Amino acid sequence: MDAKEPLPLIFEQSRPGACGVALPECDVPACDVNKIIPANLRADEAPDWPQVGEAEVVRHFTRLNQRLFSVDTNFYPLGSCTMKYNPRVNERVAADPGFACLHPYQDEADAQGLLELLYRTRTYLQQIAGLAEVSLQPAAGAHGELTSLLIINAYHRDHGGVRSKILTPDTAHGTNPASCAVCGRQAVSVKSTPVGRVDLDDLRRHVDEDTAALMLTHPNTVGVFDTRVTEMARILHEKGAFLYLDGANMNAICGIARPADFGVDIMHYNTHKTFSTPHGCGGPGSGPIAANQKLAPYLPVPQVVRRDDGTFGWDENRPKSIGKVRSFYGQIGVLVRTYAYLRALGNSGLKEASEMAVLAANYLAARLRDHFNLPYPPPYGHEFILLPALQEHGITELDVSKRLIDFGFHPPTMSWPVPHCLMIEPTETETKATLDSFADALIQIKREAVEEPQRVKQAPWHAPVRRLDEVAAARKPRLRWQPQ
Ligand SMILES: Cc1ncc(COP(=O)(O)O)c(C=O)c1O
Repeated sequence: MDAKEPLPLIFEQSRPGACGVALPECDVPACDVNKIIPANLRADEAPDWPQVGEAEVVRHFTRLNQRLFSVDTNFYPLGSCTMKYNPRVNERVAADPGFACLHPYQDEADAQGLLELLYRTRTYLQQIAGLAEVSLQPAAGAHGELTSLLIINAYHRDHGGVRSKILTPDTAHGTNPASCAVCGRQAVSVKSTPVGRVDLDDLRRHVDEDTAALMLTHPNTVGVFDTRVTEMARILHEKGAFLYLDGANMNAICGIARPADFGVDIMHYNTHKTFSTPHGCGGPGSGPIAANQKLAPYLPVPQVVRRDDGTFGWDENRPKSIGKVRSFYGQIGVLVRTYAYLRALGNSGLKEASEMAVLAANYLAARLRDHFNLPYPPPYGHEFILLPALQEHGITELDVSKRLIDFGFHPPTMSWPVPHCLMIEPTETETKATLDSFADALIQIKREAVEEPQRVKQAPWHAPVRRLDEVAAARKPRLRWQPQ
């Protein structure tokens, strides 16, 4: 089958009577389902499932799998997403039945291994942040943001009254202002300087007794290390406001700088990015939060603890806690991978990974800076912003991204946080040869844009699908197969 031909759905391959499984003869007495399953849970008709043989099922899903683009097959420089290689050993550990098959209602006494792993994970995350205490409960980065803002609200409620404003730099990820809105606070944008730092004068103008916090991503989403974060913390603390760190970019500073040391009061981790869980297309994630002494009493319950007798368990007795923010105890599978990753790398390995991530971004930027517009000056964190600036040839950042697919590369993040940009995050797990071939591809695409624009304009040529109607795909997705 041609790699570009659309694949029929499994339902469209259905042939009446075909069957993929042979069940053994029933060796228990038959029963009347009408007596067992309540009427409101019974359908009138049997579901219209596809009838296909085993080989057809295997081939169908194998073909689909061959069309997948993944970090296991290709370079995936999707800025702000940290699409690094995920070590297989983490998968093996997470799939261990001792972890994977535990039921959340299992008695504490029978789950000591997992509880110890969670306790140690929270201790490591505390140490990496330099903060007093970690909650593993939030389900992803955005959920960690919201939980942290609820904690800040609770603190202010106990100390003079809830404050209405939360500041977000104009480079902030969309989830930051969204989290402010969800917790009923007003997001106020703070300007950046031309070199991509927070404008301290604008920050001073906005910070007052009604300001709850600044949500800072560091290094920020344009890849810039802001060297004046401690000054920002001072400005905020003087008015009783907090410095919140959006830790999505911890991959650039892990083991090098501890957020508490540059003035952070509370933060979230995107463990699925920084500590390597396969993610993308919405999950899975995990967004533990770390808080200082002032805010720690408000962390969610239950908290995993080590008791005086050396056993591990759940502590529900935290009178100031904001309560539960998720069912059960957190995204356990992602946290097991986090633990495996942290143990495999150790202190020095974690630092080296961050150093390599920063080196990879700066190497790639150096290879490209004579060919493209890099609007912010180096050095960069673990990612950087590039403007293709090919509009005069009728070529947009989308066209460049689509053409990159023909070279076997996943498109970078596009058009955010700077209009018309590509945001490139290579990560530490790529070889110099891969970085070089990516740079060569971008330089060739620029040449094509000038000499042969249609080649770029109509790309991709070698992918299973050409250009999709992205608006229709987002607004009118067809999520269910309907019989004709
Ligand atoms: C800077 C930044 N903050 C927050 C988030 C939200 O994290 P999550 O997708 O885990 O909810 C992201 C995700 O891409 C991000 O890049």
